[in-house]
Amino acid sequence: MSTLTDAEVAHFLEFGYIKVPNAIPRSVCEEAERECFERLGFDMEDQSTWSMPRIHMPSTKHREVKDVSPVAYEKMCALVGGEHKLKQPCTWSDGYIVNLGVRADDPWEPAGPDCPGWHVDGDFFLHFLDSPEQALLVIVLWTDVVHQGGPTFMASDSVPVIAKYLADHPEGVEPNGFEFQQRIRECQRFEEATGEAGDVYLIHPFTLHATSQNVLRKRRIITNPALILNEPMRFDLPMNELSLVEQKTVNALGGVPFKFQPTRERERRVPGQKQMPKSSM
Ligand SMILES: [Fe+2]
Repeated sequence: MSTLTDAEVAHFLEFGYIKVPNAIPRSVCEEAERECFERLGFDMEDQSTWSMPRIHMPSTKHREVKDVSPVAYEKMCALVGGEHKLKQPCTWSDGYIVNLGVRADDPWEPAGPDCPGWHVDGDFFLHFLDSPEQALLVIVLWTDVVHQGGPTFMASDSVPVIAKYLADHPEGVEPNGFEFQQRIRECQRFEEATGEAGDVYLIHPFTLHATSQNVLRKRRIITNPALILNEPMRFDLPMNELSLVEQKTVNALGGVPFKFQPTRERERRVPGQKQMPKSSM
């Protein structure tokens, strides 16, 4: 099974993410874009028909990731420690997150702590350091995504910030309980998830990210599929027995494996009741 290159491993451990280029054929993405606009009832080529700047569409169909993008699937498995760790079926849907001109009339504001909406994903569970519900933050680019055209902002040095917060709260953290706008002030490294249609970002789940403006009014379509583990993460094994996601967390907290024990039951939460940013990308 093809896995990660040395460069991808090094990049993930340093920056908390990898970008998988050409993970989906461009022709498949173009078909998805056409379908998306058909469902919206907008004309792709006529901006006057784009009556909403942002739409988070419901999912109508799911496909196994291994069929849509074998290469992304293999790399996802490699990052989390193997296919057996992933809850099946592992699927991607057509629940597109469409940005056709978010805050397009405002001056472009580069990624930084003053941008609104920083968060980590997972509005449906009480968060622990080892939570299995969010194995990776995945961003699938179904269109080209360019600077100033609605790229997701990422703080690529935020894993230690969120890891420390979760380690300090073994009783769990509510989805809206991280005080994100304070946490983001502890970060300095900001990046944009730009790329071409078919590129896929695989990102450590503790990475703070935020929607951005689309001042160019480009057609920007992504999905943000959840990836769930069968069991909680482990941090108490020798480093070479931990997944890369787990290693990144251990490194963020001093580099020495340790035992993490939640002090409260794992609990589900109902999305939408916790004042999370409504649209996450
Ligand atoms: Fe998000």
